[in-house]
Amino acid sequence: MIAVALALGLSAKTKAPQPALQFDPNAGEARVMTMHDGTRVRYTAYERLYFVTNIEDSAYQFLNVYVPDGATQQTPIFLRTYVGGYMASAAGQPQDGDASGRALKEGYVLVIPGSRGRNSTVTATKSDKKKGVKKGQTIYTGRAPAAILDLKAAIRYLRHFDDVIPGDAEHIITDGTSAGGAMSSLMGATGNNPAYEPMLQAMGAADERDDVFASVCYCPITDLDHADMAYECLYNGTDSRQQGDADVLAVSNELKAMFPAYLASLNLYTPDGTLLTADNYLDYIKSELIRSAQIAKNAGADIPDSLGFVFSAPSINGGGTRVSKQEIADQMHMSVNELDKMLSRDIQVRPPMQLRLAKWVGEYIIDLDMDKYLNYVVSTRPLKTAPAFDTQGVVGQNASGENEEFGDSKGSSVNFTEYSAAKTGNVITPEIANHVSLLNPMNFIGDSVTDVAPHWYIRHGARDRDTAFPVPINLALKLQNAGKDVNFLLAWNRPHSGDYALDELFEWIKSLR
Ligand code: DHB
Repeated sequence: MIAVALALGLSAKTKAPQPALQFDPNAGEARVMTMHDGTRVRYTAYERLYFVTNIEDSAYQFLNVYVPDGATQQTPIFLRTYVGGYMASAAGQPQDGDASGRALKEGYVLVIPGSRGRNSTVTATKSDKKKGVKKGQTIYTGRAPAAILDLKAAIRYLRHFDDVIPGDAEHIITDGTSAGGAMSSLMGATGNNPAYEPMLQAMGAADERDDVFASVCYCPITDLDHADMAYECLYNGTDSRQQGDADVLAVSNELKAMFPAYLASLNLYTPDGTLLTADNYLDYIKSELIRSAQIAKNAGADIPDSLGFVFSAPSINGGGTRVSKQEIADQMHMSVNELDKMLSRDIQVRPPMQLRLAKWVGEYIIDLDMDKYLNYVVSTRPLKTAPAFDTQGVVGQNASGENEEFGDSKGSSVNFTEYSAAKTGNVITPEIANHVSLLNPMNFIGDSVTDVAPHWYIRHGARDRDTAFPVPINLALKLQNAGKDVNFLLAWNRPHSGDYALDELFEWIKSLR
């Protein structure tokens, strides 16, 4: 599609090809950013740096570079993409409230690239008529894999001018959230892979490497071709699915049944060397949720018992015996429900009972009722339908953003999973299959022709249901199994969000060198 648009030489919003990429070291502008705590950060801004010579969309295909005072050629580069919802994302300026401003404050060179997205268009002009495109016709130029191509071109641009742009292009740390987290994971996982090369050449990207040093991925909405089955593997048993639309539940059941084969194909091992199978997979997710809640509890968070956690009994000397709420309810000769009701009404409890109730908030979290926890997650934000991503035409549902992402230059939306295509009588053409493959970091980790980033920081909120926990968990494990340094957490009580716990993030970044 990109090749088509380039061949058409579409003129609206496009620019005449530049003979060469450019960077003027004297074009910087001195600026100051005031942080939330009043600190002032002085930096130099270099903006509108086009990273391809065949500029198809002049509003998006450039990057901005911000160099804090004191940065040198050896300073690592923090590259923040603002892609969200697989939409076009313009190169913006540093924000004092997120990781971009924090990176500047910490002294890193900050790069914010723009990139085309599923809503990017150019309008054909009269001169395009002889090429079979009507004047005024809208051409979609940002469908997959355009965004990752733009981001790779941006990385290549930084390498191309590494000697003159302050900062070290051999130490690029990418960061993004959600679809941007997916883009960050792709920048980290697809370095120098030859499959992207012809398209990058056609765009006029620099003839340079595009691997990076580290990737920070907040709630990456990725592995789109398996995200539907992962979603139902996790959420099929929730009240919301079981008591919802019967057609949707039937879809959910079918998708859930497909997940074990996918899991087996991944051949993933937990950090302690256990092979993950359909039989132990939910227990592994449970252990990750318990680890998350325990970290939060250690930091002083109040973890409500109502979410399904079971705590060890407290003891002055540590340790203690395992006491479940059920056991306490039994002692009280009542049901857990009645006990919950009583507690929620804040009834005055007699001292012996207080003592016994205290037993379930010991030092350690020792178990979790997953059904209860998943129902809680869904109560904080309703589930997506089933399928969660490739919805188009399945039990009469509309196209999702992801259906658009894989659509073509005419603006179509398409199915991109075999499951949904079979349901709707569509076929996944080799072109669509290729685009889906190029957008999935899981396909490149561990192969011999890709330079995968050595360092990873992956976060997914413990109550984020935009994609299911298996997606970031599988990504983290695949990277770990391939020998990468991975800092992974289902961050406690976080919904779908990013750039949080920045003190911790920047401690991690500092530890890398
Ligand atoms: C985003 C969120 C989604 O739920 C999704 O399906 C795709 C992208 C986002 O926030 O970028």
